[in-house]
Amino acid sequence: MTILITGAGLIGCRTASLLAARGERPVLLDLRPNEAAIASLVPDGKATIVAGDVSDRAAMLDLFKRHSVTQVVHTAAALSLAIRERPTLAFDVNLGGTVALLEAARAIGVKRFLYASSTTVAYSTFGDPVTAPVKEDLALRMASQAPRSLYAAAKLAGEWFVRLYGDQFGLDWAALRYAAVLGLWAGPNNSVPGGLMAKLLGQGAAGGKVRIDDKLYLWTRGEDFVDARDVAAANVAALDAPALPSRVYNIASGRMTSVADFVAAARRVHPNLSIEAADVPPTGFAGFPWPRDYAFDISAAAKDFGYRPAHDVESSLRDALPFV
Ligand SMILES: NC(=O)c1ccc[n+]([C@@H]2O[C@H](COP(=O)([O-])OP(=O)(O)OC[C@H]3O[C@@H](n4cnc5c(N)ncnc54)[C@H](O)[C@@H]3O)[C@@H](O)[C@H]2O)c1
Repeated sequence: MTILITGAGLIGCRTASLLAARGERPVLLDLRPNEAAIASLVPDGKATIVAGDVSDRAAMLDLFKRHSVTQVVHTAAALSLAIRERPTLAFDVNLGGTVALLEAARAIGVKRFLYASSTTVAYSTFGDPVTAPVKEDLALRMASQAPRSLYAAAKLAGEWFVRLYGDQFGLDWAALRYAAVLGLWAGPNNSVPGGLMAKLLGQGAAGGKVRIDDKLYLWTRGEDFVDARDVAAANVAALDAPALPSRVYNIASGRMTSVADFVAAARRVHPNLSIEAADVPPTGFAGFPWPRDYAFDISAAAKDFGYRPAHDVESSLRDALPFV
């Protein structure tokens, strides 16, 4: 039994760390594994670290055979900011990498394939009022509510490819849609929520005054944040579950956090922190066009694999302190 985790980034390493703690030795694959950063979460020798490109189909097939991979947690991807800089990454890495892994999984008969998706696949529907917690199977108008970013388009297409490989080739799969993930580590921080944390905590440590004027970091009404430790626990629980009947799962906190709530949590961590927010734009988090009032419904993950988020924003900020 070998679990392959693609992407030795924040979530991949957090997941490997949980598996290592219970005596497993996952394979951690990354384009450029940062061994020092990995060692900050996964003790030396507790994972097999491999350098490779998920979009290289021949290399992936070889890797799956060499390590007799039985389960996959596929987190390797370019994040939204990287895709804004280099749009082709959405196709080459996020979609192409997923297909390369699905092919290798099909060829050797992998038992379970977990796909790291994103709740941003639902954000294009928020132009219409959201009146209840957002379920996974929400209605999506194909044209007017099509994904608003190449990142979300590639995540959604990836979900459909994983689903169809499941239907057509018998692969056991699930797509875990992570909400905005809070966490820092010794490696690079590539996400928008991580950028906000680093900004607040960095200035807090310096005893300074911080002005938030980047519209990506401000939002009207609420956003649903989830701690990277809760995401990792969800990955492991989904690996362990006897069956995953719902297939698509929101991995969120199920709670809405306003800018004021976030700032208040940062002040509890750094009481001297002085924060000044520029005018809050009438938009959602990370520049998404629409604010909303309801969080993501996490009941399917609770029912199928016992998912229960354990950390709030303050806990996430405290956990990140050593990495600022
Ligand atoms: N962080 C968030 O807020 C968030 C939210 C929702 C979904 N997600 C998804 O969760 C997953 C993990 O996110 P993360 O926060 O750990 O990101 P991360 O950037 O820390 O980790 C991703 C890793 O993938 C690696 N990678 C990139 N291209 C690769 C390639 N061609 N081959 C092999 N490895 C490659 C990177 O080097 C990086 O280490 C991603 O799929 C992301 O889209 C993240």
